[in-house]
Amino acid sequence: MTAAPDAQGSGRAGERYLLQPGGSVAGELRVPGDKSISHRALMLGGIAEGTSEVSGFLASEDCLATLAALEALGVVIERPARERVIVHGAGLQGLRGASHGLDMGNAGTAMRLFMGLLAGRTFESTLVGDASLMRRPMERVAAPLRQMGARILTQEGRPPVRLLGGGPLQAIDYPLPMASAQVKSAILLAGLTAKGETRVTEPAPTRDHTERMLGAFGVRVERRGAMAAVSGGQHLRATRIEVPADFSSAAFFLVAGCLAARNGLTLRGVGINPTRTGLIDMLGAMGADIRVRPAGQVEETRGEPAADIEVRASALRGIEVPRALVPLAIDEFPVFFVAAACAEGETVVRGAEELRVKETDRLAAMAAGLGRLGVQHELLPDGIRIRGRGGFRGGTVDSRGDHRIAMAFAIASLKAEAPIEVLDVANVATSFPGFVETARKAGLEIEAV
Ligand code: S3P
Repeated sequence: MTAAPDAQGSGRAGERYLLQPGGSVAGELRVPGDKSISHRALMLGGIAEGTSEVSGFLASEDCLATLAALEALGVVIERPARERVIVHGAGLQGLRGASHGLDMGNAGTAMRLFMGLLAGRTFESTLVGDASLMRRPMERVAAPLRQMGARILTQEGRPPVRLLGGGPLQAIDYPLPMASAQVKSAILLAGLTAKGETRVTEPAPTRDHTERMLGAFGVRVERRGAMAAVSGGQHLRATRIEVPADFSSAAFFLVAGCLAARNGLTLRGVGINPTRTGLIDMLGAMGADIRVRPAGQVEETRGEPAADIEVRASALRGIEVPRALVPLAIDEFPVFFVAAACAEGETVVRGAEELRVKETDRLAAMAAGLGRLGVQHELLPDGIRIRGRGGFRGGTVDSRGDHRIAMAFAIASLKAEAPIEVLDVANVATSFPGFVETARKAGLEIEAV
């Protein structure tokens, strides 16, 4: 890999956040590129024929783990700038076995999508990750891949994942037992190297970046209702991918704006794929003032829509979150719970048991932190009930090493009565390099120490 200018270094700036209470946010921001799309752009570029160019790439630890793994598999990658990547595709059958285990760091997306990408190869691969990833369930991907003929070992369902290789896969017709874009994507990627047409049907819509991007690389993906299908053996043609700003990173500032943008806050060039924007509907139902502009003139970048989003502070009221919105806002719940704590009345989320198997158990971690900050709540097996109190007491909360929990509690400071300290925040660099600088620019009084 050619060296890239990296003004923010690895992004690992400090282990704790200290936040002063109150204040307001204002101005215009552009948050970094979309994590899901950046992973996929590298992977599909890696198995395409020809040279793909990715701009707006998210230079975060998660995506750099995917980049390093592809290099170890023989893909030549250049990085002429921090957010620009050139991938010299090895072709669908051109990956070669790595000489060592592939380290996915904190990235569940990387591990699960690589399982699909590497299951039907002639060589063996071993996938490992950090302490959080080594605890996460991998049988949800291993089981359908075994049905396709792959030989895969997990350690009681968790990493390390050993893909023993050995030969071509057979297509399957697979009803997903849970709403998971990672599982869906892994099966579709395995389907590229399988004999026949691989079909997946999801119980509820989940992010469809894989389906869209396969299309951009010239692969025919048949989509009918909840079903997506791909025929094996199709070659990918290199392309240009412009990665929009990550809605899931913008989400922290959308909520910040709802709480404290008295004169408005604008987020530029945000991906607004409808399988990602459930948070806008949830906040809208609570009375938020959010405008997506310019309506009707949304810029389409290779199948992924992007727009500017403007938000203004308003009074929020508690809601019962419709279950259908849960998968469309799955990564936004930590910061949504912060909004709920600031609302008037009760907010209830059910059907969100998937939050228990994210980078940490996000229901338990958020409940503990909300409790520390004086918010009454009831933790449910598949969700939470939060009694809004208009804001927070000050205090110390533990992010448990989860990037989104850390950033969510940073936003809580805008409505706190005393300083908030957030522990174990280094993993913010996995998804949002430069978060502290962006938060300061918006108006938060935040320090990483
Ligand atoms: C992702 C899918 C979601 C999401 C994760 C990224 C993806 O995970 O939580 O942050 O890029 O496909 P699940 O598929 O486990 O729901």
